[in-house]
This record gives sequence, C-alpha cells and structure tokens, in this order.
Amino acid sequence: MADNVNSTEKADRGPWQYIIRGMWRTPLGLFGVLLTTISITLMVVGLVFDLLGFIENPYANLFTYLVLPGGMLTGLAIIPIAAWLRRRQWHKFGISREHLHINLSDKKHRKGLVIFVVLSVVNISILGLIGYEGYHFTETPTFCGKVCHQVMEPEYTVYKRSPHAKVACVECHIGPGAEWFVRSKISGLRQVVAVMTNSYSRPIPSPVEHLRPARDTCENCHWPDKFHGKKVKSIKHFTNDDQKNPEVTDIALHIGGRNPETGAFEGIHWHVSDGVEIQYLAADDKRTQIARVKVKRPDNTRDEFVKADIEVPEEKADNWRVMDCIDCHNRPTHIYDMPEDVVDFGLLSKRINSDIPGIREDALAVLTAQYASQEEAAEKIGPDLLALQYKRDPQNVAKYKEDIKKAGIYLTEKYLGNVWPRMNVFWGTYQSHLGHRSEDYGGYKYASADFGCFRCHDEEHENNSGESIPQNCDLCHDEPE
Ligand code: HEC
Ligand code: HEC
Ligand code: HEC
Ligand code: HEC
Ligand code: HEC
Repeated sequence: MADNVNSTEKADRGPWQYIIRGMWRTPLGLFGVLLTTISITLMVVGLVFDLLGFIENPYANLFTYLVLPGGMLTGLAIIPIAAWLRRRQWHKFGISREHLHINLSDKKHRKGLVIFVVLSVVNISILGLIGYEGYHFTETPTFCGKVCHQVMEPEYTVYKRSPHAKVACVECHIGPGAEWFVRSKISGLRQVVAVMTNSYSRPIPSPVEHLRPARDTCENCHWPDKFHGKKVKSIKHFTNDDQKNPEVTDIALHIGGRNPETGAFEGIHWHVSDGVEIQYLAADDKRTQIARVKVKRPDNTRDEFVKADIEVPEEKADNWRVMDCIDCHNRPTHIYDMPEDVVDFGLLSKRINSDIPGIREDALAVLTAQYASQEEAAEKIGPDLLALQYKRDPQNVAKYKEDIKKAGIYLTEKYLGNVWPRMNVFWGTYQSHLGHRSEDYGGYKYASADFGCFRCHDEEHENNSGESIPQNCDLCHDEPE
C-alpha cells in the first residue's frame, strides 16, 4: 500500500488524524465504515417502521432486530482493526508511531473527543432500543408462530382461533422468571438449529416433555379455587342414516372447584385442589398407558391404583408425574377438530345442505382422504365431492350443484385448518384429554380411546382392596335439570 504521505500535511495533522481520515483508503476500513453506516441506517428505518406499525412481516423484523445489529457490531469491530493494521504499516514506512494522547486543551482533540462521545452515545442508544424491541419481538406469537412458519404453522393456525388467541405463546410455554427465560432461549437456539438443518420432528412431539408446570403458567390467570359449578353442554351428532335430525346428548358437567357454600372441593377440578395430589406413572411417552396412580386425599389418606396388564419399561420406572391442568387440558389452545365434528357442524350450520342424499358420508370421505399436500387437497376436495355425488346419482348433482360446491368450499377450509401433510399432522394426530371420545361415544373414528379421562377411570386400575377408579357415568356428568 503506497500511501504518498506529504510531509507538510503530516506535520499539520499528526498520524492519528491520518489514520482516521485514511480509513476510507483501505478496503477493510472502508468496508467497516460502510457496513456500520448501512446497518445503522437500515436498523433505524426498520425500527421506526416497526414502531409505527407499517410492517407486519416477521422476516423484516428478524432482519432489523437480529441481522442488522450483527452487521453493525461487526462493522464497529472492523474499524479499529483496520486502523491498527494501518498504523503498523506506517511503522514499516518509517513514520514514527505516535501514541494516542488526548490533550483537552487542544481544540481539535476536544472536537474529536466530543464527536467520539456523541457517536458512541447514539450507537449505544440505538443498540439498546434495538435490543429492547428485539427482545420483545422474540417474545411475540408472531415470532414464535411465523418466523418458523413451516414448522409452527399448525400450532399457530389453531391457536389463532382458540379462546387463548390473545395470550402470548410465552405465557404458557415460558412463564415468568429468569431461569425459564434462559432455558427457553437455549432451547430456542436448539430449535433454530433444527430448523436450519431440517432435522426437526414431524409432527412436533406431544406432550411437550419439559413444559413448565401449569402451576406457574395457567394459574397466573386461572385458579383451581374458582368454582365453576356445573356446565351444561349439548352435544349434537348426526349419522349417515339420519343426517337431518341430530342425536342430542345434554350433559351437565360437574366441573366443581371450591364450593362457596360448603368450602369443600368437589367435582372434576378436585384433582388439582388443595390437599389433593395425584401422581401417575405412564408406560409410554404419550402418557396414554397409565400403569399406576397414587392419590393423596385432603384427609391425608393415601391410595395406589394399579393396572396390572400395563408393563412399565425399566427406563420409565421413575417417570412419575404430578397431575396438573395439562393432563386434562392438553389442548387449551392448540385445538384440532375431529372430522365427524366438522361435518356435523357443517350440517347444523347449513354450510352443508342436509337435503342432499348421502352428503354426510361423502363429505367425511373427501375430508379424510389422503392428500399429498394442502395444495393438492385444496384442488381436489371440491371436485372429488362432486364426483362422489355423481356416482351416487347424477340427478343429485343436477339438482344441488351449487350446494355441493358450497359444501366443498367449507370442507376445504376446514381441512386446511386441521391437516398439514408436510408436518405429518393428520386428523387425530393431536387429541384432547377432556372427556372420552371413541367410536362408542359419538362414532369418532379418528379419536382414540387411549385419550381422555378413561386412561384412569376405566375400572381396571385397582387398589389393594380391589376398588377401582370409578367410571359410573354420573361421577362426571348427569342430565341437566
Ligand atoms: C394457553 C396456553 C398456551 C399458549 C398461549 C400456547 N401454547 Fe403451545 N402448548 C400448550 C400446551 C398445554 C401444549 C401441550 C402440552 C402437552 O400436551 O404436553 C402445547 C404444545 C405446543 C407445541 C407442541 C405440539 C403440540 O401441539 O402439542 C408447540 C410446537 C407449541 N405448543 C407452540 C406454541 C406456539 C408457537 C404458540 C404461540 C403462537 C403457543 N404454543 C401458545 C399451551 C399453550
Ligand atoms: C395470560 C392469561 C392466561 C393464561 C396464562 C392461561 N389462560 Fe386460560 N383463559 C384466559 C382467558 C382470558 C380465557 C377466557 C377467554 C374467553 O372467555 O374468551 C381463558 C379461557 C380458558 C378456558 C375456557 C376455554 C373455553 O372453551 O371457554 C380454559 C379451559 C383455560 N383457559 C385453560 C387454561 C390452561 C389449561 C392454561 C395453561 C396451559 C391457561 N388457560 C392459561 C387466560 C389465560
Ligand atoms: C381432571 C381433569 C381436569 C383437570 C386436572 C383440570 N381441569 Fe379444568 N376442566 C376440566 C373439564 C372436563 C372441564 C369442562 C370442559 C368443557 O367445557 O367441556 C374443565 C373446565 C375448565 C375451565 C372452564 C370452565 C367454564 O366454566 O367453562 C377452566 C377455566 C379450567 N377448567 C381451568 C383449569 C385449570 C387452571 C386447571 C389446573 C389448575 C384445571 N382446569 C385442571 C377438567 C380438568
Ligand atoms: C391420572 C389419572 C386420572 C385421570 C387422567 C383422571 N382422573 Fe379423575 N380421578 C382420579 C383418581 C385417582 C380419583 C380419586 C379416586 C379415589 O379417591 O378413590 C379421581 C376422582 C375423580 C372424580 C371424583 C372427585 C371427587 O369429588 O371425589 C371426578 C369427578 C373425576 N375424577 C373426573 C375426571 C375427569 C372428568 C377426567 C378427565 C377429564 C379425569 N377425572 C381424569 C384419577 C384420574
Ligand atoms: C371420569 C369422568 C367421566 C365419566 C366417568 C364418564 N364421562 Fe362421559 N364425558 C366426560 C366429559 C368430561 C365429557 C365432555 C367432553 C366434552 O366436553 O366434549 C363427556 C362427554 C360424554 C358424551 C358426549 C361425547 C361426545 O363428544 O359426543 C357422552 C355421550 C358421554 N360422556 C357418555 C358417558 C357415559 C355413557 C358414561 C358412563 C359409562 C360416561 N360418559 C362416563 C367425563 C366422563
């Protein structure tokens, strides 16, 4: 590098001035300065746009809050390195090295120092603001659900239509406190790596093995003490034989809680009430094969119920789990529909015209058929429904063409909201433990009897005296008065 240093200029300015001015002349220095300047400028633009709500794109935010600050810091690190390299070269050319001394009585030095301090304050403020906003950004459902769009699309889609759509992911998945915050960021990093290396599980496994105990999450907003009393539900199902008149089951669920009149805990929420502790040992990762259940009651009596025909593998012998909200409410927000419910709701809400002969059976057939992708399903469900109806009776199609098309649109919409072939999420992949669903109750072909209350309440878990965890129907619900 042959810098032609003019000696009068040199005397005038001193080597440090040169280093700073000369920054532009070395490729590395120029790169550092440009990188810093461009990063800061874009960061400020991105920040302002985000704060004003102009951009909703999570990738833009990812760029503003993660990529650009990285660029800025790299640039800032390169500048002194470039200066240092240049200073060394001067030595090679026989120009005396000068140490950096700041002489506050020198006007030039004062000016330089002020510029340096001001620039530093500006930089640190911008970085601070970016850090703060960026931290909040990584805590938003948009970040969790959309940045890894491919992976989280099922969870995010069903969350958005749930009663908890306004509760941030982190409220349930992380909760308050520094320890879980750090754990979540570490596991977040692992997840980013899994996404980048395309090595994540499809579907994402459930139950979430290290989910924070419900005590620290759900119970920030809900209390087991709260008395919910009885809740009446009216469950309506159609059958293929009668798609006009629903079978109606009215049940009054004994949700319970602390009864304000007696002060005692009762009903379904008894499991999580004061003085009760239920622990269970499952033989499988899904926690559906429950081998042993220990209970401690408020009167301090203890009991253990064992289901003799479930064998627990040795490595699971210590996997006792204390029952909490999530052992029943495993789907408080990632709620997937069952195909029977989708079709029956379509009939009830008249999105599917029940006058069309055989429409329930055909709708279930197209809804549960195998499609390679959501795109394929979107293309095929409508025409396939029409084809099935045509096969049944061409007259139907002539008479109800518009209604069949309407039904196809409804079914497509529901399919796209529940099934993601890319993630191996199909009907029944994620099932709820609330209640008991199987072909016996409502004809749920895709629901497994392994899920729900009957994991324990099956009259096959027995204690020493041969008593079992009860299954009498009026324990949990009776007919509404
Ligand atoms: C109301 C609490 C709550 C909120 C809010 C919530 N989750 Fe969940 N999430 C859960 C529970 C409970 C489970 C299932 C735990 C289990 O079965 O062990 C779960 C499971 C998951 C799973 C594992 C797959 C599955 O469906 O079981 C993923 C991934 C996930 N959540 C992502 C998210 C994302 C992303 C958001 C925000 C867009 C979010 N969650 C918001 C409570 C919540
Ligand atoms: C940040 C507060 C918050 C947290 C945390 C939270 N919830 Fe909720 N939850 C709510 C609100 C608010 C509603 C009421 C929504 C409505 O009525 O529209 C609700 C509703 C519910 C309902 C009734 C749903 C229905 O169908 O009406 C259940 C059950 C429930 N939550 C369980 C849970 C469980 C289990 C957890 C922990 C995994 C949890 N919640 C965590 C705020 C929260
Ligand atoms: C033994 C299973 C079980 C456990 C454990 C459990 N719940 Fe529930 N909970 C239910 C059932 C069943 C319902 C009624 C669901 C329905 O409406 O279909 C319910 C209803 C609710 C509701 C809605 C009440 C209403 O009036 O709609 C809330 C809120 C709730 N539970 C919160 C919790 C919280 C918080 C915990 C943990 C402290 C918890 N539950 C533990 C089974 C359970
Ligand atoms: C992990 C095992 C387990 C699961 C799962 C389970 N229970 Fe229980 N349940 C028990 C045990 C144990 C008892 C107490 C039996 C005893 O005291 O002899 C009990 C008792 C009850 C009681 C009587 C409470 C009282 O007032 O004494 C009700 C009601 C009940 N369960 C409802 C449900 C419902 C509804 C579900 C599903 C949403 C459910 N249980 C899921 C283990 C379980
Ligand atoms: C351990 C508690 C428990 C016991 C015992 C129990 N149920 Fe249920 N059952 C529930 C809960 C909780 C629901 C509500 C599910 C929901 O909210 O979708 C339910 C729902 C139902 C439904 C409606 C199902 C649907 O979605 O179509 C029927 C039918 C039913 N129960 C019948 C019975 C019969 C018959 C018995 C006696 C053999 C029985 N139940 C025993 C807890 C229980």
